Amino acid sequence: MYRIAPSILSADFARLGEEVRDVIAAGADWIHFDVMDNHYVPNLTIGPAVAQALKPHCRKPDGTPVPLDVHLMVQPVDALATAFADAGADLISFHPDASTHVDRTLQLIRARGCQAGLVFNPAAPIDVLEWVLDKVDLVLIMSVNPGFGGQSFIDSALRKIEQVRRLIDASGRDIRLEVDGGIKTDNIRRVADAGADTFVAGSAIFGQGDYRRVIAAMRAELAAPRARAA
Ligand code: DX5
Ligand code: ZN
Repeated sequence: MYRIAPSILSADFARLGEEVRDVIAAGADWIHFDVMDNHYVPNLTIGPAVAQALKPHCRKPDGTPVPLDVHLMVQPVDALATAFADAGADLISFHPDASTHVDRTLQLIRARGCQAGLVFNPAAPIDVLEWVLDKVDLVLIMSVNPGFGGQSFIDSALRKIEQVRRLIDASGRDIRLEVDGGIKTDNIRRVADAGADTFVAGSAIFGQGDYRRVIAAMRAELAAPRARAA
């Protein structure tokens, strides 16, 4: 089942709770929460206190919880991963090149009751996955260089998604394959056809007045019959 995860990086930071409620009412499946530290990436965003404040807003109008999907672009990772777990994160993903002991960090996230994800930058190899696939709940492929919203999709991400899809299928494990950066209504289908099942979209959703219309258009693309192979 496909999931759409709006990134609140492009939301109005002066009204975050309302933005989260509005985008959930508009059909968001997850809330994607981008954490930047001005060290691993050249930008600075929001921390565990903001996650904790938003957590009560992560519910559908009928009360169903909506997962808080925390994407850590920080180095080092462990202390902040722990702080976000305590703040109510449901999924916590980190970049393996930002942690000295990737296996330990994955264990630490899971031991706190969260799902653990690994994130791969556009130029990063995915070799590490071979050794930790049994400890991963999510693989997040970056289709832009991390640090900013509103960048253009990098096409080589499609090949990487295809590779990871093969690895996941061969493992037989229940692992989500998420993609982040430059996702719009007009490319989401290509990304799904490459093998992704979870789509982060920041500017495409929050840059428009009508969140419901954009999310519905994305779902319509995902539901359309598969394009003929070239
Ligand atoms: C980039 C962040 C993304 C960002 C995506 O470093 O990880 O989640 O919000 O923004 P768009 O969808 O505008 O490319
Ligand atoms: Zn992100």
